[in-house]
Amino acid sequence: MNAGLIGIGKFVPSKVVTNKDLEARIDTSDEWIRTRTGIEERRIADENTDTSDMAYEAALDAIKNAGINAEEIGMIIVATVTPDRPFPSVATMLQERLGAKNAAAMDVSAACAGFMYGVVMAKHFVEADTYKHVLVVGVEKLSKVTDWEDRNTAVLFGDGAGAAIVSKVSEGRGILSFELGADGTGGKHLYQDRYIRMNGREVFKFAVRQMGESAVNVTEKAGLTTEDVDYLVPHQANIRIMESSRERLGLPVEKMSKSVHKYGNTSAASIPISLVDDLQEGRVKDDDIVVLVGFGGGLTWGALCIKWGK
Ligand code: UT7
Repeated sequence: MNAGLIGIGKFVPSKVVTNKDLEARIDTSDEWIRTRTGIEERRIADENTDTSDMAYEAALDAIKNAGINAEEIGMIIVATVTPDRPFPSVATMLQERLGAKNAAAMDVSAACAGFMYGVVMAKHFVEADTYKHVLVVGVEKLSKVTDWEDRNTAVLFGDGAGAAIVSKVSEGRGILSFELGADGTGGKHLYQDRYIRMNGREVFKFAVRQMGESAVNVTEKAGLTTEDVDYLVPHQANIRIMESSRERLGLPVEKMSKSVHKYGNTSAASIPISLVDDLQEGRVKDDDIVVLVGFGGGLTWGALCIKWGK
């Protein structure tokens, strides 16, 4: 039996920062941001809310939706590039707060593809019968590493967390295939010193190529064709990049997850956050073939093809 996502959850901060709010701070415009990125607003965490706090809320939501208790979790994997501090890991902080006393815990650094990396690791532990349930969290407080004077990046990012419980699911359902990859030669295009620095155009070109390719690759690895895909959940970085991967799969607009307008780019959190909204609003149903695909700094990428349902 395959591993699948038996429960997912999310948390976004309540504070909304609109494009108009940014217009007042930097030389940009609502019109530029909307047309170039699709972003209308993003959520920003307050100073008392750190990465682990958002991770905790999303994890509680996922645990509740999975119908398990925290003591049944065998491992916690937190994908983040904005941990509260270098160590202890966010995963160990969560282990304590959740009371997940039987869980091993670690953080994973794969930028915006981090949730994909985490789920693939979890799948292996679960399918090898090492752990029954693995908690995977994608979480970022990007606002603390955003240069609010740099219009190239300040308009793009948001804070938030998404989480999933990865466990065995019924025959035929679950993760059918995956792809992970990295190209360190592109590391110079997107990195953090004090703040995030980015060569937007280079990242854009890479993302358009990689998202389309990886989405098609996982579909074929699952023994399916693009016509079998019911729904696409791309990393919510930029509507133009997302649209290019949707077109590559030949899907209509309503078959692509879209939350970038509400939350901006929340890096490792964007895919699970978007998927939670899709499930709640009935866009993803049991037995749908769902492709998740992400890319990020590193450069890294990852994709999953899932037959949805427990
Ligand atoms: O999770 C992965 C994270 N990174 C990404 O996903 C980023 C991928 N890249 C992108 O999404 C796009 O490249 C951006 C949205 C960052 C930029 O869009 P673009 O169409 O590639 O614009 P550009 O960088 O070619 O810049 C066009 C113009 C420039 O002005 P000039 O040189 O033509 O006079 C920029 O200076 O737009 C200017 N510009 C802005 N103007 C208003 C750049 N940022 C802004 C801004 N507001 N915020």
